[in-house]
Amino acid sequence: MRNIATSVAALHRSPEEADYFYVPVSVGCLFDVYGWNEIPRWPRNILGTRSHGAAMLQREAMRWLNATFPWFARRGGRDHIWLNPHDEGACYVWKDIWPGVMLSHWGRTDFPHASNTAYSQDNYSLPLHHPLHPGDWLEHTSKAHPCFDPEKDLVIPAFKQPSHYRKSPYMGMVGPVTRTIFAFFQGDLRMEPGRDPACRYSRCIRQRMYNLSKDQLWKEKYDIWYGDRKDMDSNFDYSEMLSRSTFCFVLPGDGWSPRLEDSVLHGCIPVIIMDQVQVAFENIMDMDQFSVRIGEGELDRIVEILQAISPEQIQTMQDNINKVWHRFRYLGIRMATLEVRQRLQQYRENHDEDAPKNPGSEHMVSRQDDAFDTIIQWLHYRMPFVHKATKQ
Ligand SMILES: *[C@@H]1O[C@H](CO)[C@@H](O)[C@H](O)[C@H]1NC(C)=O
Ligand SMILES: *[C@@H]1O[C@H](CO)[C@@H](O)[C@H](O)[C@H]1NC(C)=O
Ligand SMILES: *[C@@H]1O[C@H](CO)[C@@H](O)[C@H](O)[C@H]1NC(C)=O
Repeated sequence: MRNIATSVAALHRSPEEADYFYVPVSVGCLFDVYGWNEIPRWPRNILGTRSHGAAMLQREAMRWLNATFPWFARRGGRDHIWLNPHDEGACYVWKDIWPGVMLSHWGRTDFPHASNTAYSQDNYSLPLHHPLHPGDWLEHTSKAHPCFDPEKDLVIPAFKQPSHYRKSPYMGMVGPVTRTIFAFFQGDLRMEPGRDPACRYSRCIRQRMYNLSKDQLWKEKYDIWYGDRKDMDSNFDYSEMLSRSTFCFVLPGDGWSPRLEDSVLHGCIPVIIMDQVQVAFENIMDMDQFSVRIGEGELDRIVEILQAISPEQIQTMQDNINKVWHRFRYLGIRMATLEVRQRLQQYRENHDEDAPKNPGSEHMVSRQDDAFDTIIQWLHYRMPFVHKATKQ
């Protein structure tokens, strides 16, 4: 027994055997302190954008790895995994790390591309020189690659605590579900005068839709609830609204916004509006079996397009969401597992054991096939391509 245990441990500690390496550089943490605090300056003697700081931090880690171990060079960095959780995802990572697996929340696929942020600290298209790299950093980063490559990268769901979707039919809401709201979106609009003069935020999608919702009387005529917090009722509950809606809009924020996660976790059919941007797991799932995509140029036809979807098609998409929603949440973290168990307990105390269960709620407390499992399954499937540098 002891021998087997020892050799298994040895096997797992051998980088030679590793299929992938996760590089634990937290650029999300750098982003949060940078630009708000006096320190840290990164790299030294410069206060560039925080995108530049993040790219340089990853580059430094890569250089250290490559100088210290043979593993980075072994497969040209293709088996190294980098997490890029901030607004504009992997748009500006250093080209030397780009061959690796980029995990992010922002699936922008167009190339060439430029930053569209409304927050100047995040503008990754701003030219910048520094003694640590030759020439303009743009040539080594955003001008060298797209933000997301559906073949080697993955848009991963953002983490949502179970309390965020506590009113979801999957989480103990007493069935049956009645979705009386036809379509729903609540979020930041930034339409106050002078706030975002060029209307860059959300690619001006949220703002244009807001005006359309007023002009076309969306709420009065079609039961479409759309707006920011002040457009909603005073006792408004986000989770409840998503649970009561048939369609939910998935619109960008400054970069990504976790709206696909919000809708799927509540069994609401996502209506995705952001051209050439993939949502979480779009390259590995049949997304059109449970979502609707509308072009940015078709905003004035939204109502018409949604009304043309038959009750049968709606039912099919809802049935499909019931089968996959749990892949969009992470349940392996102890905090999340405990919370969801407490909710199940409450549900049992408040309801008859025989109360009808909503389809999909059977996944409520199971960690199997959650978002993390799904990522690992995809990495496993990708192994031959990563090892041999062949196309999939
Ligand atoms: C990694 O190190 C090898 C060997 O020194 C070198 O040839 C290669 O250019 C380095 N790769 C990067 C991306 O720096
Ligand atoms: C980012 O910087 C570039 C170069 O200065 C500029 O052209 C562009 O308008 C800026 N983008 C934003 C979103 O401010
Ligand atoms: C929305 O309507 C307001 C008021 O008419 C107008 O000032 C604003 O420019 C419009 N915004 C968009 C994005 O259409």
